[in-house]
Amino acid sequence: MLDLKNIRKSYLLGTVEVEILKGVDLHVDRGEMLAVVGASGCGKSTLMNIMGFLDVPSSGEYLFRGRSAQGLSDEELSHIRNTDIGFVFQQFNLLSRLTALDNVGLPLVYRGVPVKERRERGREMLDRVGMGERWRHRPGELSGGQQQRVAIARALCGQPSIILADEPTGALDTATSRDIMDLFASLNRDEGITVVLITHDPGLAKRCARSVCMVDGLVETV
Ligand SMILES: Nc1ncnc2c1ncn2[C@@H]1O[C@H](COP(=O)(O)OP(=O)(O)O)[C@@H](O)[C@H]1O
Ligand SMILES: [Mg+2]
Repeated sequence: MLDLKNIRKSYLLGTVEVEILKGVDLHVDRGEMLAVVGASGCGKSTLMNIMGFLDVPSSGEYLFRGRSAQGLSDEELSHIRNTDIGFVFQQFNLLSRLTALDNVGLPLVYRGVPVKERRERGREMLDRVGMGERWRHRPGELSGGQQQRVAIARALCGQPSIILADEPTGALDTATSRDIMDLFASLNRDEGITVVLITHDPGLAKRCARSVCMVDGLVETV
């Protein structure tokens, strides 16, 4: 599904070039549920952004479903971002003025899906994450865990083959974090969606079939 080969990424801080990723090799199989753990600032988000085509590596090769990222046009990249990948973030990133339903349907706006179909699909997705009753609510009227469910419904709306989640439980209490992990696990197990999840909680990582750890700019098998 995903293949990262000797991925390096440097940032220029002032005049100093700092290498964050120092030759990451990582393979993610289709249907896998993988946790990426590591200390704060070690480069987890940088790696995730590269996997999701939100950032480009300084060097190395990235293959997405067998296709080299370097060979893809901007149009193909945004198509993949929009249809193949579902993103989930720590801070939910919902639009506060929109209802849960309209937040969920937002990715479909960019695809030109008509409003009626967007709403139907949005309702289905909210049902899938246990939020069907709350479709009218705005994010401010929902708890953190509920907002994350809405964000996951939004990620599912485009029917992605993979979900990339960057510390999706980082802003949630322990019990709610477990519920959200159960949701990811069921999407993975019952629907075959590949899940890559960043967490700094080893307890949550253990619930994934496989964990890798980022240390000193490299990915190590735990
Ligand atoms: N756009 C950027 N420009 C410069 N430095 C960055 C940028 N993005 C991240 N960094 C630096 O890269 C390091 C890794 O960041 P990040 O990938 O966000 O770590 P993590 O997600 O593991 O906490 C940090 O030291 C951060 O300050
Ligand atoms: Mg991060």
